[in-house]
Amino acid sequence: MRVLKLLKKENHLLNNELIDTLHMEFIDIYNSVDINSNESIKSKAIALLVHTRNHFRKEETLMNRYKYPRSTEHKNEHNKVIAELEFFIDKSSSIFGMNILKSYYLEKLPYWFNYHLLSMDSDLVAFLRTSKTSFHKKKLEVN
Ligand SMILES: [Fe+2]
Ligand SMILES: [Fe+2]
Repeated sequence: MRVLKLLKKENHLLNNELIDTLHMEFIDIYNSVDINSNESIKSKAIALLVHTRNHFRKEETLMNRYKYPRSTEHKNEHNKVIAELEFFIDKSSSIFGMNILKSYYLEKLPYWFNYHLLSMDSDLVAFLRTSKTSFHKKKLEVN
């Protein structure tokens, strides 16, 4: 029998209040699945799809506002995971499709989440920190 590897909140904090809140919401939904229930896997995958659309929109608003230079790559990664979730949820009405959704949920999604936070979101947070500091410095210089 397969077991769910829980995502640990303390391993996924990036020190940005808004982005951390979004990531904790993702973890709460992800960890609350009953992996012995296909209905639960499907409903949590749908809940994660709804969550990620909002989560990504908020990150992308920050990218646009602060002119983040690597937004194209970051947005492409967002679009890719949304398309995958939509595809696997859509195919899950057959037994074969449901098995694929289950594997995706158990193996790929937590891997993606870890990788995305370590590579893309941490880079965005570091960029926001420096650009906010220089923004405030500029304001002080003007005043
Ligand atoms: Fe994120
Ligand atoms: Fe992101």
